[in-house]
Amino acid sequence: MQTESDIIPSVIRIVENNGFSLNRYKKTFIQRRIVLRMNACKISDVSKYLQLLKTPDEFEAFVKSISVNVTSFFRDVSPFDTIGRKIIPVLASRPNLSGVLRVWSAGCATGEEPYSVSILLNERLRRTSLNYEIFATDRNQKALDHASDGIYKESDISKIDSLFKARYFTKFNADSYQVSPQIRKPITFRLEDISKPTTKKFDMIFCRNVMIYFEKQAQDVVVNNFYDSLKPGGFLVSGMDEVFVNENFSNLFTPFDLKQKIFQKREKPLN
Ligand SMILES: C[S@@+](CC[C@H](N)C(=O)[O-])C[C@H]1O[C@@H](n2cnc3c(N)ncnc32)[C@H](O)[C@@H]1O
Repeated sequence: MQTESDIIPSVIRIVENNGFSLNRYKKTFIQRRIVLRMNACKISDVSKYLQLLKTPDEFEAFVKSISVNVTSFFRDVSPFDTIGRKIIPVLASRPNLSGVLRVWSAGCATGEEPYSVSILLNERLRRTSLNYEIFATDRNQKALDHASDGIYKESDISKIDSLFKARYFTKFNADSYQVSPQIRKPITFRLEDISKPTTKKFDMIFCRNVMIYFEKQAQDVVVNNFYDSLKPGGFLVSGMDEVFVNENFSNLFTPFDLKQKIFQKREKPLN
């Protein structure tokens, strides 16, 4: 009889064919998620679960069970490094900036992403005359309340560079720290659905680990929205495990650094 561990390769194949990469996850973690989902669906036969996973609803539920609400400061450090070295200098030298670099953190959860971006921008721009603003949105009010407080447990900030910790966090109570006012001030948190059009224009959009919530058709709406919300030559940063498989995406964006999942708005859409 087949077990949950036997179907891991088939699960990986189904999930990856639908645009979500599992290659960074441990097999034991994937197996635990399979067991969790089988229990939730009250299914004990692994081959029946494989059939169910091919349906859009269960595919979405499985992917969410892997990544829902997970976030951290400087999540996947390497894209932040690339943005700091290669993108901020390009944006900072653009004439259309008019003194303020504008970033949207779409699906910001409990705030770790916009605060990381704010620290990065502060580091890179503090010796220039440029300012920056970060618009951080989520559809979860509870997550946003946490984000606006900017208070995190010591364990949440344990992996942050010690220099940044000393510079940008102050002790709040026995086991928590608060992000410093200079890092919080440029950020506006707002309850907003990312599929709703916005009239604002940004130099860079972070939308990481959020597209898994959307069906392909709804992804198209969001991708169009991002295209319209970016200034010419603006950048879109997606999650490391996300793969945009739809044609619409490549019509609107061109890869800037595929490994780091950073894309650039095309001057004109293809087609
Ligand atoms: C896994 S967290 C990702 C957080 C952060 N971007 C990161 O990568 O660390 C996904 C967040 O997207 C938010 N989200 C999902 N659908 C959304 C929507 N339609 N509009 C705004 N936020 C959404 C969820 O509430 C959740 O906080």
